[in-house]
Amino acid sequence: MPRIPDSKLSEIRQSVNIIDVIGAYLPLIKKGQNYVAVCPFHQDNHPSMSVSQERQIYKCFVCGAGGNVFMFLQNYLKITFHQAVLEVAKMSNIDVSEYEYKAPVKEVAKELVPIYDMYEDATNIYHYYLSTDLAKEAKKYLTDRHISDTVIDHFKIGYSLPKQCLVPAFEKKGYDDMDAYRSGLIVEGKYKRDRFVDRIMFPIHNSEGKVVAFSGRVFDKNSDQAKYINSSESQVFVKGEVLYNYHRCIDAVRHANHIYICEGFMDVIALYRVGINQAIATMGTAFTKRHIQLLKRLTKNIRLCMDGDNAGQTATYKMGELLKKEGFDVTVINLRDRYDPDEVLEKYGKDELLSNLELTMPFLQFQLNYLQNNCNFENYDDKKQFTTSAMKLISTLEDPIDYEHYLSIVMKITGFSASTLQSLAPFVQKPIMQDIVLPVMAPRQVINKYQRAERDLLHYMMEDKFVCDIYVKKVQIMHNVEYNLIANLITSYYKRNGVMEVSDFINSIENQSAVQTILEVSQLNIPSLSEFDTQPDQKHKIIDGYVETLKGYGAMLRKEKEESLLLNTKSTEEQIKILEQILTNKEELYEANDDTKPKIN
Ligand code: CTP
Ligand code: MN
Repeated sequence: MPRIPDSKLSEIRQSVNIIDVIGAYLPLIKKGQNYVAVCPFHQDNHPSMSVSQERQIYKCFVCGAGGNVFMFLQNYLKITFHQAVLEVAKMSNIDVSEYEYKAPVKEVAKELVPIYDMYEDATNIYHYYLSTDLAKEAKKYLTDRHISDTVIDHFKIGYSLPKQCLVPAFEKKGYDDMDAYRSGLIVEGKYKRDRFVDRIMFPIHNSEGKVVAFSGRVFDKNSDQAKYINSSESQVFVKGEVLYNYHRCIDAVRHANHIYICEGFMDVIALYRVGINQAIATMGTAFTKRHIQLLKRLTKNIRLCMDGDNAGQTATYKMGELLKKEGFDVTVINLRDRYDPDEVLEKYGKDELLSNLELTMPFLQFQLNYLQNNCNFENYDDKKQFTTSAMKLISTLEDPIDYEHYLSIVMKITGFSASTLQSLAPFVQKPIMQDIVLPVMAPRQVINKYQRAERDLLHYMMEDKFVCDIYVKKVQIMHNVEYNLIANLITSYYKRNGVMEVSDFINSIENQSAVQTILEVSQLNIPSLSEFDTQPDQKHKIIDGYVETLKGYGAMLRKEKEESLLLNTKSTEEQIKILEQILTNKEELYEANDDTKPKIN
């Protein structure tokens, strides 16, 4: 993957405003010059993250997370820095094709090539027939269900003729009969025949976007045939390995940062009709390891949107438990009147479906409701069973407020006292999150004037190149090891680029601790040099002041070292030697050191 040069990184970064990008993911509140938000990188309810419009960086003063727009996306979407840069470029339509990672084209096993080809051809053939007069009835059925041509094209919905349609087409194409049988599209028998006859056809794609199966729906209301017939499993199709609409939903999920899981195609299609693309369907099967794997690539926020009937609710319970165990955050959508999404849309319209979809319920609340609905409270054994199960669920809570909230719910349902319930599942104070983050910013430190001079000088070096030039000429070294590293990085960055913006500068630095220090130092609340643009002399005077102070720093450190040596040395001869040394240094020190009292910052 070609490295993106600094200049391109700056161009891409400057093409967006960090406020817009972060604002698309987090609610931002304007506060003075800056914006604040609840930091998504640690568990918190307070707005501890500030986003600076002027500097185009974000910084959390509790967990220390910080960076520019690329680093925000990298950490928020859990993608690489390179991918984050490409994401931003795409937002601004900047061509980055030359930097894109080209996945090595996966060699499709030779014997599978004709099978994939047949599925692709079949998709086109079925789709074509749906637009012809032969599909009048099927088309009318779809129209009655408000499936427009746009939707038909988007999902490549099709129609299989009442008579053979793939058999002659495949013959004409010259496909081998054995391949056709292996695909499952043609059935072997006395005569070869199409598997799907007179049905509305939904192509099913694998995660790479290749059609690997079909599901055919009857549309004659009086038909006594199965509502859906699916392709049988084949070399390219394992039912537990695909999720309907997966390959189409990826971008939308990344942007919404959540995904809706529905039961059927028609539900995914209903969501699409109201503008929601981040939806997939399990197609009525149980969840498998492979499904989990596919979801983990997308988001950890799952919204279960199964049918409201009993089967749907039981499926929700099972899936939710499994997903929780795998570390997903799960919420549940309760659809009006226990309908499925498509029925809500048909009966109550778009606004109702959208508002249903927004009302997410925590999975634990769903579990309690579910257990409650399945319990006969008249029967004491049942009630006791409910109580123990409910308290078992609650005992996993790690936040005391959540615990109290759900405890009061169980009290209300069962009528048992808090102390009885708590004896079943006592609340043990646990850390709120396993990866609890403590404030990294040390409590306000007392720093002496030398340390402050190094820090402020570093700040001004990033603000104005002339300060860096003075540093190179007259100071050359910082005693704080990290500052020294940063000063060197600043110097070489100016050499390469001539100018600097902190939000670009940090792109070139791999050492994350240095990045955080740079962000802190660059955000220091000290007067900007630009205030003195009209008085260049004043500007130089300020910087010269720091240079002078730092001249005394080395001598002061030496003195400290010698004094401690003196205290620890027993031999008189040695002590005299050290004292002499100190006296020579002293004059030097007094010259530069006009104010020896440490300052409180
Ligand atoms: N399904 C299936 N075979 C069936 C019934 C259902 O494969 N005989 C799968 C389909 O993938 C279907 C899903 O289970 O999409 C959910 O079933 P259901 O809720 O009955 O279908 P809907 O999506 O609601 O379809 P429709 O609204 O057309 O009835
Ligand atoms: Mn339905």
